[in-house]
Amino acid sequence: MITSVPTRRDLYQQFLPQGAVGAELGVFEGANAYELFVLTHPSKLYLVDPYAFPGAEIAREKATALMQHTTSIGVEFVCQNDWDWIPTLPKGHLDWVYLDTRHQREPTVRELEVLLDHMDPGGLIAGHDFAINPMWGTGVIGPVLDAVQERRIELLALSEEFPYPSFIAKVL
Ligand SMILES: C[S@@+](CC[C@H](N)C(=O)[O-])C[C@H]1O[C@@H](n2cnc3c(N)ncnc32)[C@H](O)[C@@H]1O
Repeated sequence: MITSVPTRRDLYQQFLPQGAVGAELGVFEGANAYELFVLTHPSKLYLVDPYAFPGAEIAREKATALMQHTTSIGVEFVCQNDWDWIPTLPKGHLDWVYLDTRHQREPTVRELEVLLDHMDPGGLIAGHDFAINPMWGTGVIGPVLDAVQERRIELLALSEEFPYPSFIAKVL
């Protein structure tokens, strides 16, 4: 049965392991990165964002300032597209990820492919915006549900945040 929890914070607390190696893919100003850090006490947390949109420098500065005191204790910014960076890691290095990038189908399919190639069984893939939306259509839920149908991941839980719920799934 798929568990339902009120917010994505509850997903982090109930499903993400403490002291593990995680990554947020899509950081923007760092608000959620900070929550992930505080709630999961990662041994290593990668914050991955190419910051390539107009005005990105301001978002990047905000994220850097917010996470300033954490970089000496395992937080590392990676200014790259996630699909270029993930294949550079040793296989199975990431225990969990939180995916919140472009939400369109093509990039989401690409991200899931590199993640499923990289992560070991039991690894956790969470992400934002598990909902149909006029901006990205089924760009998130379509590829995630395809991976469920193909028995590559098992959907564990959803958050009840309308209109932007999160999901978490286990790599099979
Ligand atoms: C919705 S925002 C992230 C918000 C953040 N997760 C939060 O909840 O506070 C999306 C971010 O994804 C980043 N992004 C877009 N394509 C990306 C990619 N291929 N890899 C990593 N990040 C990407 C954008 O630069 C943008 O900052």
